[in-house]
Amino acid sequence: MRTKITVIGAGNVGATCAQRILEAGLADVYLVDVVEGLPQGKALDLVEAAPLQHHDQMIYGTNDYSDTTESDVIVVTAGLARQPGMSRDDLLLKNAAIVGGVVRQAVHYSPNAILIIVTNPLDAMVHVALQVSGFPRERVIGMAGVLDSARFRAFIADDLGVSTADVTAFVLGGHGDTMVPLPRYSTVAGIPLPELMKAERIEELVTRTRNGGAEIVALLKAGSAFYAPASSVLHMVDSILDDRKRVLPCAVLLLGEYGIDGLVMGVPIVLGAGGAERIIEVSLTADEKAALHSSAASVQVLVDTMAAAGK
Ligand SMILES: NC(=O)c1ccc[n+]([C@@H]2O[C@H](COP(=O)([O-])OP(=O)(O)OC[C@H]3O[C@@H](n4cnc5c(N)ncnc54)[C@H](O)[C@@H]3O)[C@@H](O)[C@H]2O)c1
Repeated sequence: MRTKITVIGAGNVGATCAQRILEAGLADVYLVDVVEGLPQGKALDLVEAAPLQHHDQMIYGTNDYSDTTESDVIVVTAGLARQPGMSRDDLLLKNAAIVGGVVRQAVHYSPNAILIIVTNPLDAMVHVALQVSGFPRERVIGMAGVLDSARFRAFIADDLGVSTADVTAFVLGGHGDTMVPLPRYSTVAGIPLPELMKAERIEELVTRTRNGGAEIVALLKAGSAFYAPASSVLHMVDSILDDRKRVLPCAVLLLGEYGIDGLVMGVPIVLGAGGAERIIEVSLTADEKAALHSSAASVQVLVDTMAAAGK
């Protein structure tokens, strides 16, 4: 049997994910959207690129979830993207309804799949997917930290004039304004970042990382980032399908880890064929702990807002 990935939402992030997965030769892709013709058109375009991109993967566009039966991984990008001036949280209730609906339909046909959630506000949407799917927490994983840490790595590498390949970056917490980058766990070829960069400069890069999504939204005027988000999804899919057990920052339900119980937070996990196979706990300073708990508090507000709205 060929490996099968369903990508829900054929917009910027979803279609670019599909393209990346095909071109990496990872799996066949089923691209789903609510708009008729959109996933079919993009799929046909990608099929026609296959001879030039030298891969033998297939892509199918569909509006019908029965086509996605027995997918190994389901990537959820369906929803509304942020517009300039619109916070991620403004999207909350609209996207909760969309994500709830698509997850319900998708898991009906693929009860053993691993879900990767991309739609914002990310941490809250992972809660919706957990609730609607009834899947164990190992199989419902949010993409945020891989993107946030890639942004941090790109800025560090550029600032120091070194290869991005030698820069690692460590981020915890919720996606967006409340994420918690940890410079002392970020390195350049194993050298802790604070040895190479002044504290003020690190702080500037942290701030830029925190606002990384908004910086791109402001430039694009319409829509939000999608190239780096799609690359981030590709990394996660690759680690799952090849059981690589990469250690990646992902949003998962915490059950006591880091002193947080019953909330989705970005933490380092071991990502393999079983999904989020392990959560890695590191020791935090009092300040880092406080930042993580304030990040958790802002996710709790979203969860409470959804509960109050009956989502
Ligand atoms: N987690 C992250 O780090 C991250 C990064 C980038 C974007 N995002 C989020 O990903 C989502 C998608 O972004 P985008 O730029 O691709 O947006 P987009 O508008 O280009 O695409 C969204 C697609 O979802 C489809 N859609 C809407 N409702 C649907 C439904 N009920 N069923 C199936 N499809 C449906 C739309 O028709 C559209 O094609 C947004 O919520 C965005 O904020 C998250």
